[in-house]
Amino acid sequence: MSDAKLGAAILITGTGLGVGKTFVTAGIARALRERGVNVGVMKPVEVGWNPEIDGDWPYDADVLRQAAGVDDPREEIIPYMFKPFVAPQVAAHIEKRPIEMSVIHDALHKLREKHEIVLVEGVGGLAVPLDDGIDLATLAEHCKLPVLVVSRAHLGTLNDTFLTVHYARSRGLDVIGVVTNLYDSSVEDETIPSNVPMIEQMCDLKVFGRLPLQPHADTFDQVVKSCNSCLDLEALIEAMGLEAAVQD
Ligand SMILES: Nc1ncnc2c1ncn2[C@@H]1O[C@H](COP(=O)(O)OP(=O)(O)OP(=O)(O)O)[C@@H](O)[C@H]1O
Ligand SMILES: [Mg+2]
Repeated sequence: MSDAKLGAAILITGTGLGVGKTFVTAGIARALRERGVNVGVMKPVEVGWNPEIDGDWPYDADVLRQAAGVDDPREEIIPYMFKPFVAPQVAAHIEKRPIEMSVIHDALHKLREKHEIVLVEGVGGLAVPLDDGIDLATLAEHCKLPVLVVSRAHLGTLNDTFLTVHYARSRGLDVIGVVTNLYDSSVEDETIPSNVPMIEQMCDLKVFGRLPLQPHADTFDQVVKSCNSCLDLEALIEAMGLEAAVQD
């Protein structure tokens, strides 16, 4: 298939570990699928996974492929898996298997030939090293991926989000917007009403919504319900360049 027919692709990165990249990516994947979009998923690198003990599919990649309902080969969805639970570059060094941009690019290309859009979940944050002088931002640059940032909803998020957005921009990346996550209404936090407008003002971009901390976040139905009710999905779809593909 020619380049002109390749699907879109975006990188869903986070302000750090555990902010909800998988949760948000899975929710968006399922929400898009329910709107008739042929969506693919990718997790370029996973650390801390031993297939002989832990099973064939690392957690993130497994959640994502189930959310999207795809059966693409494992080496396309997750080109690199490492056993040590350390930064990807360190894991690659320990296992003597350097992470190559071309391998990830080629796997993504195959996915883009099959799907209207591929959601690529990042690994930690954008500055996580993959090799000497190569980080997640390099990957986004190499694969020409616009970036969606997932950040926390609570106190501290202004600085975290600003740093991630501005690092992305300093690397020439297109940041399409932010999703804040893990909003816990039981926690007293006076910053909550101002966080979204402050992020929009400080970063000059759109926050697509604030996802609540869900006591039972273990089914796609709950996650996608949250995405449908708390995210401006139409705006997100437009920002991803997908509006033409969505069925009414
Ligand atoms: N809105 C939410 N409500 C309830 N639980 C959530 C929510 N978002 C994330 N979680 C939970 O928090 C944990 C971390 O979320 P998740 O795995 O999506 O983060 P991540 O950014 O993908 O982490 P990693 O950096 O390890 O890839 C998971 O157990 C997930 O189910
Ligand atoms: Mg994850």
